[in-house]
Amino acid sequence: MGPIINDYAWSRGGGGHSWSGPAQNALNGIARLFAEFITAAAGSARVCGIIGCVSDEPVAEILLDGLKRVEYRGYDSAGMATISGSRIRVKKGAGRITEIEQKHGLSSMKGNVGMAHTRWATHGGVTDRNAHPHTSCRETVAVIHNGIIENYLELKRGLSKKGHRFKSETDTEIIAHLVEREYLRSNDPLKAVTSAVKKLKGQYAVAVMFQDRPDTIIGARKDAPLLLGVADGKMFIASDILAFIEHTDRTVFLDNHEVVELTKDGYRIFGPKGSQVRRAPTQVAWELSDVSKTDFAHYTLKEIYEQPATVVSASMQDPRKLSEFASSVRKADSLFITASGTSYHAGLLLKFRLNKEAGLRCDVIVSGELREHTGFLRKGSVVIVLSQSGETADVLGAVKEAKARGAKILSIVNAAGSTLARESDIVLLLNCGPEVGVAATKSFTAQAVVVNLVADAVLGKKTNGMKELSEAVRDVLQVEPDVKRLAVKYSQRPDFYFVARGYQSPVALEGALKLKELSYIHAEGMAASELKHGTLALIEKGTPVVVVNPSGEAHAESLSSAEELKARGADVIGVSDQEDAVYAHTIKVPRVQPKFMPIIEVIPLQLLAYHAAVAKKNDPDYPRNLAKSVTVK
Ligand code: M6R
Repeated sequence: MGPIINDYAWSRGGGGHSWSGPAQNALNGIARLFAEFITAAAGSARVCGIIGCVSDEPVAEILLDGLKRVEYRGYDSAGMATISGSRIRVKKGAGRITEIEQKHGLSSMKGNVGMAHTRWATHGGVTDRNAHPHTSCRETVAVIHNGIIENYLELKRGLSKKGHRFKSETDTEIIAHLVEREYLRSNDPLKAVTSAVKKLKGQYAVAVMFQDRPDTIIGARKDAPLLLGVADGKMFIASDILAFIEHTDRTVFLDNHEVVELTKDGYRIFGPKGSQVRRAPTQVAWELSDVSKTDFAHYTLKEIYEQPATVVSASMQDPRKLSEFASSVRKADSLFITASGTSYHAGLLLKFRLNKEAGLRCDVIVSGELREHTGFLRKGSVVIVLSQSGETADVLGAVKEAKARGAKILSIVNAAGSTLARESDIVLLLNCGPEVGVAATKSFTAQAVVVNLVADAVLGKKTNGMKELSEAVRDVLQVEPDVKRLAVKYSQRPDFYFVARGYQSPVALEGALKLKELSYIHAEGMAASELKHGTLALIEKGTPVVVVNPSGEAHAESLSSAEELKARGADVIGVSDQEDAVYAHTIKVPRVQPKFMPIIEVIPLQLLAYHAAVAKKNDPDYPRNLAKSVTVK
């Protein structure tokens, strides 16, 4: 089995990147690293982060480092609990981790067992009290949780009647009380958590500590990611591999309805019916530099600059799997594509090629809306699902609906161990490594590569030219200084428009989405043909409008749109391989095969959004109100 491309390989050495060697080496190197790397998502009260550690040495600093590594998921509060001197001690608060550390000294907490949490508020406001960990009435049990407990009010009422007093407004706190009650009955931590979680409706990934079991953490999950890290003399439980990546590359993924008991010497997993499940750790190849910013000011910029490598690692697909994927697409009685956000835009690229070139009828439906279209799904239907995280709640909801109707699920996903990957019949991995910035950048590029491999395979064509594409991506990054000037110039504008035609339309949508989420400027992306049906009324002197317009079929028509916009006062910014007098500014991009042009065109738009965010003093890595992985509906 070899990779799809065989003209060269990407390898890493001496801190730099170089092209060399046989392609198989690349599979053993960075591409395999990326293939196996789980960026994994959150799964919590939106995107909370969980990390717990049982060790033979103090854990506070380990936990604090872990928290910082999952900061990218977004949070409003954080906290930590450790056991020392036969007591559970909790320190927590609203605010940034560094502020909480300064105020409470998390890193000096004593104890060899502990757990920490970043919270994104859902039930209960952003307050110190609502931050996790939460403890039971007697403070003998501490819990951290990702997810939403749908029946928490009903459970809370029942517990209140039995005398339980609550200190927070969260749904999570009821878990601590339930576990305490069960523990008083059984005196067995595992049994206590197992029976407590059976009473929960909704989603959860929980880690639980018991005051009188200072050597144990119990974890449980349902519809929210939870995994273990196995190190010498230390065991981890976390919502995200990044939380413990510094300590171990040996990971165990937990399945829904499993409960795990963790001690410093090992773990025992139990399935929904109570029988023990034997599961060995998976070796996850990793390099710390892949999850640090290295010399870049922000993860987002680093990830934009990784894209020359992304196109190559994404193209390294197992040919057998790819042909199986393509054959299922060809044989489908009906074909749907579903995804959310940026991944949806990549889905539009696939639809375009399958419709236009392969003559296959297929619809792309945003995942949150799929259930409105399930009437067309049945046995024999195929649903192609795209997701970076593989944990987006809307996406998983769509998959559930589609599977219930007998459809086959083919997924294109970055996180190999994600719920989506496990729920799919065939999986193609993006191989683009961990994407930390909330804005999807390199994952879009990886998706654009993989959807083209799929389309080519459906058409029975070989995909060539990855080396040229990678070089073109490197070249297009040279536009950064010009794009930065434009970003600064227009950063105070209230509105921005992005237009394009045909296969380029998803690029317009993606450019607008990137600008909105990073710069907070109102932006709209649309088919250029739609301008005259309404949006032209909004164009006034100086309104910036990006026209994505490569040479080719639609070039002349898009130039006419640009003229119309200019005539109404717009500052037209052309993204094109051809300059034209109509553009107030041209972002000149290299010419590649038409099917790859969206990759080349989207990169300047990612840079535009990034620099507009920086110019407005926004944090491009953690845009307000947004989460990297939206794990609740
Ligand atoms: O992990 P997914 O690809 O399923 O995520 C889908 C969207 O939430 C995601 O693409 C979102 O739109 C990005 N923040 C856009 O940059």
